[in-house]
Amino acid sequence: MIEILPAILAHDEAEFMKKVDRVRALGAMLHVDVMDGIFVKNTTWSPPDRMRVLLEGIPFEAHLMVSNPEHAAPIWLACGASRVIFHVEATTKESLICRATAEECENLALAINPDTPISRLTHLLDTFKQVMVMGVTPGWSGQPFQQIALEKIAMLKSLRPSLKVIVDGGVNTGNAAGIVAAGADVLVSGSALTEHPDPAEAFMALKTSVHSRTLDV
Ligand code: DX5
Ligand code: ZN
Repeated sequence: MIEILPAILAHDEAEFMKKVDRVRALGAMLHVDVMDGIFVKNTTWSPPDRMRVLLEGIPFEAHLMVSNPEHAAPIWLACGASRVIFHVEATTKESLICRATAEECENLALAINPDTPISRLTHLLDTFKQVMVMGVTPGWSGQPFQQIALEKIAMLKSLRPSLKVIVDGGVNTGNAAGIVAAGADVLVSGSALTEHPDPAEAFMALKTSVHSRTLDV
């Protein structure tokens, strides 16, 4: 069963709540984008303690596009994030993050950018069971999906079939089936849902495109 998570990238609380309100009825876990203006040029509004209050009753994960995520990751887990995703480009202290969270790395995922070779994380696959392959260079929603991500997904799955592969950035009804065919288990979709006139219809279309593909094989 392929999971589809709406992404929320916002610059203030009002924008955050507007986007949450557009997708909350979908009943899906939310993917909250967190940017520090250093690891990526953009900055988001994303205070974890306030999010914990605003998202009460809604499961969410935090995608940390921040430098030195070893500081932020434990805080997000403590504030209720079901999964925390951090970038291999942002730290060399991956094992420290595991120890600091005392979560045995189960609720942590490694993210990898389109320009980063998977050799950057292959030595970590005994420790981390989830990898998020970026379909875009992180920073903004609404960018086109980069085909190089398909190769990365397939390579990761052939290296480690049990790995949970999440794909974030540029996912839409036109490419979701191909991304799943390459091996993705979880799709994150931002603008295709939050900017759609009818997010429920868009969500259903995404689910259907992925499901039809599953029936084909
Ligand atoms: C990109 C973010 C993505 C983005 C997804 O930096 O990490 O989660 O919000 O939005 P779309 O689907 O529009 O690329
Ligand atoms: Zn994201």
